[in-house]
Amino acid sequence: MAEAKDKGIIYLVGLGPGGPEHLSPQAADVIDRCDTVVGFRGYIGQAGGLLAGKDVVSMELGQELERAARAFDLAKAGHAVAVVSSGDPGIYGMSGPVFQVLTDRNWDGEDPQVESVPGVSAIQAAASLLGSPLMQDFCAISLSNLMTPWETIRLRLESAARGDFVIALYNPRSQRRQWQILEARRIIMEHRSGGTPVGMVADAYRAKQRVAITDLDGLEERCPEIDMVTTVIIGNSTTYLHQGRMVTPRGYEKKHPE
Ligand SMILES: C[S@@+](CC[C@H](N)C(=O)[O-])C[C@H]1O[C@@H](n2cnc3c(N)ncnc32)[C@H](O)[C@@H]1O
Repeated sequence: MAEAKDKGIIYLVGLGPGGPEHLSPQAADVIDRCDTVVGFRGYIGQAGGLLAGKDVVSMELGQELERAARAFDLAKAGHAVAVVSSGDPGIYGMSGPVFQVLTDRNWDGEDPQVESVPGVSAIQAAASLLGSPLMQDFCAISLSNLMTPWETIRLRLESAARGDFVIALYNPRSQRRQWQILEARRIIMEHRSGGTPVGMVADAYRAKQRVAITDLDGLEERCPEIDMVTTVIIGNSTTYLHQGRMVTPRGYEKKHPE
């Protein structure tokens, strides 16, 4: 166990989507300055060589509150703790559980200190590989109904589809949650044509990266390709394909000929 300093600190660190080239210099710097790194077992390896000489606390998926509580206890004891998330910590990442623990423990805003270090989120990584799908208003919706009731998710899908938002779906499908993506498609198709482009990006900027483009009609049969490392981006009514890229024009004025 590393020696604790006088006043502890928690850094909420985004590792970006994959490779070390997307780990920001600020993220690398704060991890370097910490004595302890806390993270999900599946992602913590993204910090690579930066973990050398650190106390590493890795836990399983589903243990987010336990990870946050451990980070709080260590920082309260004077340690400098990096709590790492893939992508950005504030987008379905560890900022949520950490701030929940801070609230539950009546944190005074000073001890431990808490700082966030942003990272490139999956929506940005996926968009960069697909073309320019996010050129008009967009939203992110998680299809995981483990912590959010499906009725709430359904209402958000319906509202986003009705509002013609480009929609990025996080946590789209897992071994245990297979019907949600099909139900999302059905809801969105009540407001959008079957020819609407859909991008599917899995493991963006990692060794197993996969990028595919289909449309809402074709999404049903492509569902088996979608898993928990996939982000799905559904175009709005103006999104079109050009040279295999997904393009949402900047405005509504000009319709593309395709
Ligand atoms: C718990 S959320 C974490 C999001 C993360 N904090 C971020 O900002 O990207 C996990 C979901 O993010 C998406 N995701 C994370 N990394 C990804 C990657 N490299 N490629 C594609 N999707 C990714 C997937 O939809 C996955 O189910």
